[in-house]
Amino acid sequence: MILTVGGIKGGSGKTSVATGVAVMLARLGRQVLLVDADEQQTSMDFSMMREAAGVEPMITTVALHDTAVRTEVRKMLDRYDDIVIDTGGRDTTSQRAALTISDFLLVPFVPGSFDVWTCEKVDKLVGECAAINEGLHAFSFLNRADHQGADNSESAEILSEMEHVTFWDDVRLGVRKAFRSAGGKGLAVCEWKGENRKGDSKAEEEFQVLFDRICGIAIIDRKEVA
Ligand SMILES: Nc1ncnc2c1ncn2[C@@H]1O[C@H](COP(=O)(O)OP(=O)(O)OP(=O)(O)O)[C@@H](O)[C@H]1O
Ligand SMILES: [Mg+2]
Repeated sequence: MILTVGGIKGGSGKTSVATGVAVMLARLGRQVLLVDADEQQTSMDFSMMREAAGVEPMITTVALHDTAVRTEVRKMLDRYDDIVIDTGGRDTTSQRAALTISDFLLVPFVPGSFDVWTCEKVDKLVGECAAINEGLHAFSFLNRADHQGADNSESAEILSEMEHVTFWDDVRLGVRKAFRSAGGKGLAVCEWKGENRKGDSKAEEEFQVLFDRICGIAIIDRKEVA
């Protein structure tokens, strides 16, 4: 599958999700290519950190921009089971190019923030890209969600109204240090251990729910060899 993690707001968790999903797919034994389509190249940094620390499986990562996101990815399709594209937080040529060839788009939104206000623009962007790429299916979910309070449900209500993007009500990543710490070390949250040598089981569970949803829509057999 070709999976893009996008949106038009910075800091919503696109890179955290793209890198985490790429690692989890690779841990299933799948051939995965991570495409960094953001000039900040945070996904590139993630993979370099991972490689420097000698963490397996390594994630093959390339930086591509503008229309090269479409042309180069197409050339590499045969070599990979899954291509995960991390875009920048703006409506860029790179993101549009990614959406013309993607099977799936995931858009994380931070609840109770300016993020949610961008949903109309995201909806329009997806609608335009889906007119070119009929196979595009887009999904949104809350990331960096508060553990309680009305922001989550209010944001969920707004996101549920999007026309071209299906809101995943059952997928929710809370604001958790483990997500930040894992990403900063080039690890998926399921690989991360804190100072007490323990992981964060809540964070792992939350990310697993997201991953299971992706495997469900992409019809990926999770029982493949780890
Ligand atoms: N669920 C979460 N809990 C805590 N911190 C998070 C969570 N998700 C992301 N972060 C942190 O928030 C910051 C922004 O996340 P990330 O880089 O993934 O966002 P982004 O959408 O890729 O940003 P940009 O638009 O700048 O590329 C990072 O420091 C990341 O570790
Ligand atoms: Mg990013």
